Amino acid sequence: MRQKIVAGNWKMNKTFQEGLDLVSAVLENGEEPRGLVVFGAPYVHLQAVAQLLKGQKNYRLAAQNCHQEEKGAYTGEISADMLVSVGADFVILGHSERRQYFEEGSAMLAQKTDLVLQKGMRPIFCCGEPLGIRESNTHVQYVAAQLKESLFHLNEFDFAKVVIAYEPIWAIGTGRTASSDQAQEMHAAIRALLAEKYGAAVADSTSILYGGSCNAQNAQELFSMPDVDGGLIGGASLKPDDFRAIINAM
Ligand code: 13P
Repeated sequence: MRQKIVAGNWKMNKTFQEGLDLVSAVLENGEEPRGLVVFGAPYVHLQAVAQLLKGQKNYRLAAQNCHQEEKGAYTGEISADMLVSVGADFVILGHSERRQYFEEGSAMLAQKTDLVLQKGMRPIFCCGEPLGIRESNTHVQYVAAQLKESLFHLNEFDFAKVVIAYEPIWAIGTGRTASSDQAQEMHAAIRALLAEKYGAAVADSTSILYGGSCNAQNAQELFSMPDVDGGLIGGASLKPDDFRAIINAM
């Protein structure tokens, strides 16, 4: 049985206190989630959020990135060991904003994936096509290449720890969500690709999340699709009531 996951990616939002208030509000206002809830907080918030999540059964902590080298002279960067030492369980890797603004390519992302796994954390690996690729109807091949190039060197044991997030770039922060059929088409294609590479059992147990303008109104319909196992949520994860409604939709 694969895990349902709703993960918030705060991106570069929320001061320290605002972040803690958000987490507290989400924790206080709800029933126990039916799957895992992950808070993707900024680096400087991680340790304090980890404290708030102590003893919580279904809540986890994610960083939004980490450096690909283990340690050394990389001024301003954050290592996987540092993230482990403050209690991160997951690391979001390969977000389209990192690919676009920080020139993260497939080879670098493969390195980051290896390091995150080696340190005992789980990658939430993002993939997704820009609008032009969608319009040329080559989106499935495009996403398949992203996964092959950064993940398919992994053995089955390591791959089983990876969470995949499909985030079409044209849907991120635009208010234009992929339809549930568009999401399902891609998620099913990803799962078929995983089955081909790692076998049906691994493919069946991999969580594949949808991201891109997912909100309190459309989460239920998206999550009802057979291959959509939850979501990676940007804007709507910053509002406790909206995030809670999305959690309840899983
Ligand atoms: P939005 O939910 O704001 O569209 O962002 C999605 C996203 O990029 C999550 O990683």
